[in-house]
Amino acid sequence: MSEVPRDIQNREDINIMVRAFYDRLLNDDRISYLFGEVKGEHLEEHFDILCDFWESVLFFTGQYKRNTMLKHLSLHDKHALTSEHFQIWLAYFNETVDGLFQGEKSRLAKERAHSIAVIMQMKIKEMDQWGS
Ligand code: HEM
Repeated sequence: MSEVPRDIQNREDINIMVRAFYDRLLNDDRISYLFGEVKGEHLEEHFDILCDFWESVLFFTGQYKRNTMLKHLSLHDKHALTSEHFQIWLAYFNETVDGLFQGEKSRLAKERAHSIAVIMQMKIKEMDQWGS
């Protein structure tokens, strides 16, 4: 009998997920240039922040107290974030989660990523309208 993939259970699992996800993102020229400022020496720090974020989302630990939306709006201000970028980001995220885990927390992660991506794109549109 083949082994059934298990669900995301703790920060170590999140760490594995985040690194596998960024392995895809940072190796795709269509999107990797947007990560210029966190690549290199800041990458470990960025992974730590992402682990805080996903641990708060999935296990309600509450240690992530930063403003995700504002970070991405200021990113968009420097380099346009397009719907193609969001499609690529989400496809890699879903592919990463599905390749490693399966279960309620895995579903929740994909659902949250999707709804945050929808809201981000709405805020970006608003910003573009007000800015023009
Ligand atoms: C077009 C899609 C996206 C791109 C290109 C992108 C890119 C980035 C970059 C470059 C950073 C580092 C910003 C910095 O430290 O200055 C970042 C941070 C982050 N991103 Fe995204 N992102 C995208 C979508 C999303 C989505 C949909 C989520 C929702 C889960 C998300 C969650 C985060 C979080 C939690 C951080 C850490 C923010 C902080 O420093 O507190 N991103 N993203």
